[in-house]
Amino acid sequence: VRNVFVVGIGAGDPDQVTAEASRALNEADVLFAMDKGDTADELMAIRRQVCDRWIEGPYRLVTTPDPARVLDGPSYRGAVEAWHDARAARFAELIATEIPEAGAGAFLVWGDPALYDSTVRILDRVAEQADVAFDVTVIPGISAPQVLAARHRIALHGIGAPVHITTGRRLARGWPEGVDDVAVMLDGSCAFRTVDPTGVTIYWGAYLGTPDEILVAGPLGELGPEIERVRAEARARKGWMFDTYLLRRDPAGAPEA
Ligand SMILES: C[S@@+](CC[C@H](N)C(=O)[O-])C[C@H]1O[C@@H](n2cnc3c(N)ncnc32)[C@H](O)[C@@H]1O
Repeated sequence: VRNVFVVGIGAGDPDQVTAEASRALNEADVLFAMDKGDTADELMAIRRQVCDRWIEGPYRLVTTPDPARVLDGPSYRGAVEAWHDARAARFAELIATEIPEAGAGAFLVWGDPALYDSTVRILDRVAEQADVAFDVTVIPGISAPQVLAARHRIALHGIGAPVHITTGRRLARGWPEGVDDVAVMLDGSCAFRTVDPTGVTIYWGAYLGTPDEILVAGPLGELGPEIERVRAEARARKGWMFDTYLLRRDPAGAPEA
């Protein structure tokens, strides 16, 4: 039976690859990386750095174009479903044709496979549909919110309190109920602008773990516009943007329930 590793490679710093991930990369006969187009060059270069650093001897990296994702249709969920189907077909093909029988392949996953990454879900779909049998082993990685917290020297939540991890799209619909700490990923349009800034501190980080890392922290009201400016400038300069942030509301300032 073929083995498929889903390897979390961290959020951009090859030093933040775990020993377990490194072992899996070395065990794999072939490595797979999805090529997302616009951000591809630099993100692919980081993946190669990870492989060069941690794999002993030569390795085989198969990069494959990520099927296009059309999210402007009537249903966001429907569009994501269609995209996952296209990815599943591609994954099935890679597993059948690139991994030797009784060999192993590794999908390189940015950050941690458990956070806003569909590789594990898609492999479940492939396992249901494909003719070829395989086992799946998931190797955790260091995710962007973890690096963000470390850089700002904070915990992601108050003592014994929860943290809510969400997307920019969701945050734009309103502050989630029952939490004072909200970590936001996948935010293409500065959804923090939609939040009442009273008593809210933002801890923002872009390109975390890379040489271009940018950190800004302080009162949202004051620093929100500054982050928008810095973000737009960096995005224009590099051609892509990866940022994440924590919004921390002073519990004393929270609206009465
Ligand atoms: C598709 S999600 C993948 C998240 C990944 N699985 C993880 O565990 O961090 C991509 C989002 O993660 C965040 N992200 C990933 N790497 C980052 C980095 N190096 N710096 C800042 N944000 C990052 C951004 O919010 C980006 O939009």
